[in-house]
Amino acid sequence: MSSPAYLAIDAAMLSLKDEYIRTNPQSAAAFADAKRAGVAGGTNRASIFYPPFPLTFVDAEQATAVTADGQRVTDFLGNFTAGLFGFSPQPVKDAVSHAMDHGHALGGGPNLYAAKVAAKFTERFPSMQAVRFTNTGTEANSYAIHTARAVTGKNKIMVYDGAYHGAWIHGGKSAGPLDTPYEKITVPFGDAELIIAAIAEHAEDLAAVIMEPVMVNPMVYLKQVAPSDYLARIRAACDEFNCALIFDEVMTSRLAPGGAQELVGVTPDMTTFGKYFGGGLPFGGFGGTRRWMERYDPMHPQTINTGGTFNQNAICMAAVDAVFSHLWSPQQCVEHNAKGAWFRDEINKLAKAYDMPCQACGTGSLITLIWQHGPVVGGNESGVALTLATTAAVYAAPQLFWLHMLQQYNILAGNPKLNYLTLPTVLTDADYQHFLAGLVAGFVTYKEALTQLACETATAQM
Ligand SMILES: Cc1ncc(COP(=O)(O)O)c(C=O)c1O
Repeated sequence: MSSPAYLAIDAAMLSLKDEYIRTNPQSAAAFADAKRAGVAGGTNRASIFYPPFPLTFVDAEQATAVTADGQRVTDFLGNFTAGLFGFSPQPVKDAVSHAMDHGHALGGGPNLYAAKVAAKFTERFPSMQAVRFTNTGTEANSYAIHTARAVTGKNKIMVYDGAYHGAWIHGGKSAGPLDTPYEKITVPFGDAELIIAAIAEHAEDLAAVIMEPVMVNPMVYLKQVAPSDYLARIRAACDEFNCALIFDEVMTSRLAPGGAQELVGVTPDMTTFGKYFGGGLPFGGFGGTRRWMERYDPMHPQTINTGGTFNQNAICMAAVDAVFSHLWSPQQCVEHNAKGAWFRDEINKLAKAYDMPCQACGTGSLITLIWQHGPVVGGNESGVALTLATTAAVYAAPQLFWLHMLQQYNILAGNPKLNYLTLPTVLTDADYQHFLAGLVAGFVTYKEALTQLACETATAQM
């Protein structure tokens, strides 16, 4: 950590970090208070913690959030895809208010919303004939995995090394003590030959392969369409060896009207959802063809008995209904992702013009900034290769850029760990232009530090 590149980054960051602490005393106090009051670790969501303390927000509307210290910031993070429609979208407010006025959660009993919402899912995602609703994406993935195990009578699941499918479903090196003790076969992302060989090897006891249908690198949330042959071959292997192919579309379903499965042209057995479909409220769901879902019929002789007090609760169902009806038509989806593609191109053009080690990667409205020269994504017909310089470039540069954008441009450019921009629909043209102006200013101010870091990490990789 004492190399010239780190010294350069550290020096550049020193005053930004000091300013962050100096200008956010209320956020610091709020975090300390939460800890003192008994919130374990001061937060209920480790992914939104960053040292020395995260920003606390007290108000928000459309694309603007207000911090506890009164700074008004434009949100390009979008709550890691859950905030797709900005803060407090009106149609969701109206629908929730209506539901609140008419029996609240309706005692958890059947309501008229569930069928409406299910019909919208099965219409939008032809791979599903039936769905079930949950409260989070983690639950949705757990249900889908358990469904595969129940239907196939097999036990093991296959995941990418480092993958994230929820609070207790990680792949390989990112698994922790909370992980559900599934017997996991961990495979590296991108190597179709190897994955197919592993499916064949474990066929006798492999219930499911779970993955995001666009390329994902665990460290950098890189959502990039893989060569279609790659996924098609995995699909064929799942068919041959009778295991479920589960697409986790908690994030990626926003990339096309029919989800990322429409983009890649591969049909999964089951799909899972969450995040933005709740319009900001808790939501999850999963579904598939009859083969996988029929045992959820309580009258089925081998029914899968499930509880879930708040599954299909009226308030969240009303919110999802409003999302489908008012905020996320196929056309709105296509237009928003086209805007994302435009924005990514603009960033890349500027990076080229200023000869900066910066690349906007991703698909549609999901963008990750990677701070390196040279290709990030490569591959051939057998698979996809990622070439990330090192974790240093992945983590140090985003923090510098995030602080710069926050303090000079009142913009949330992802978070300090990752410049992950899951663009909300409520961003205006002026917001995008303001971001690009901040980007250029960052290029000019920090060129030396960022270039040095990129050169050093590239050398370290060779
Ligand atoms: C791909 C993916 N799957 C599942 C989840 C879990 O969703 P939730 O946080 O609603 O449990 C996430 C959350 O970030 C995710 O990114």
